[in-house]
Amino acid sequence: MKEKVVLAYSGGLDTSVAIKWLKDKGYDVIAYMADVGQKSDFKTYSKRALKTGASKVVIENLKEEFVEDFVFKSLKANAVYEGGYLLATALSRPLIAKGLVKAAQKFKARFAAHGCTGKGNDQVRFEVTIRALDPSLNIIAPAREWELKTRMDEIKYAKKNNIPIDATAEKPYSLDVNLWGVSIESGKLEDPYYEPGEDIYQLTKGVDRAKGEPAYVEVEFKNGAPVKLNGRSIAGADLISKLSKIAGDAGVGRSDMIENRLVGIKSREIYEAPAAWSLTTAHKALESLVLDRETLHFKELIALKYAELVYYGLWYTPLKSALDKLIDETQKAVNGTVRLKLHKGSCVVVGRKSSNSLYRKELATYEKGDKFDQSLAKGFIELWGLPYKGLRRDVI
Ligand code: ARG
Repeated sequence: MKEKVVLAYSGGLDTSVAIKWLKDKGYDVIAYMADVGQKSDFKTYSKRALKTGASKVVIENLKEEFVEDFVFKSLKANAVYEGGYLLATALSRPLIAKGLVKAAQKFKARFAAHGCTGKGNDQVRFEVTIRALDPSLNIIAPAREWELKTRMDEIKYAKKNNIPIDATAEKPYSLDVNLWGVSIESGKLEDPYYEPGEDIYQLTKGVDRAKGEPAYVEVEFKNGAPVKLNGRSIAGADLISKLSKIAGDAGVGRSDMIENRLVGIKSREIYEAPAAWSLTTAHKALESLVLDRETLHFKELIALKYAELVYYGLWYTPLKSALDKLIDETQKAVNGTVRLKLHKGSCVVVGRKSSNSLYRKELATYEKGDKFDQSLAKGFIELWGLPYKGLRRDVI
């Protein structure tokens, strides 16, 4: 009997070639497709997988799970990698890997495979997750093993073996798309000084083409997660899609960065995450209203760590679970509404309100009704500065 392997299949060139390659190695290939909002033509891809040699195709809709259990956790943490990456691709990998493991168990496969090369972060995220969830599975990474060095080699291999693909030789960049955002890399973008044309962007308009009128949106949060858009209750995945369109049309959510990959390479990455930027901006604004100073500052420290854990493929790890517990505790207070103005590439907070607001006008005001006792400041400052009194006479 043939050994079964479950392959994380996207319908793209790498994973299509991987089906044939695995089959030629003697495996019974089950193609696993997860819908995380990439808007693929799943039907066509599934037919192609069968035609290429897969014995079965599994398609799972993981959109809501992606949003509720991955995206919103990251949002509550305000996780951003190296200042520009809202982690769309990185967040999807542990979920897809979990689906892959479940499928392998269901079909009693002893092998799991993915189409990642040996140079990226995604291989790490898939494999660390698979091993954490089921260490008995053997992992195969065809793209790390095969002799096909370039995209052109893969296309030739596909043509020779009658593998249906829609890739052309001069595809100028590589795309990864899901609900939370788009990652664009390689091709011409490998020159860090090259300014890409508008054609690479999937979700956002350039500032010069963005709408002339500002768009105002109101986002309501409950326990740190967005639950309403412009006053209407809406499921997480729909909220993200709607906001993505509004913010994308306003030119919000692009970033262009040189990023440090886990495997030691610096790479040029372009991201589009209009909804993710808008929601992160709104979420931070609400936190600034309802969290006390120490909690807020501590959250800023762990936001960096959280982003690293996601980026490094360490989703299913003890530290990540512990951070989620801590963050969820802080999010009990994060209820309220934020108003954003989206215009020509900028996303600005113009209003925030909450029944948990810690803002006290009678303390902050410079007008009448002031309840702040300024006479207390004198003693406070004396004690605050006490350790440093006279310590730097030398600078005079
Ligand atoms: N550099 C980003 C990351 O590591 C994006 C990766 C995009 N992946 C892809 N298969 N095109 O998360």
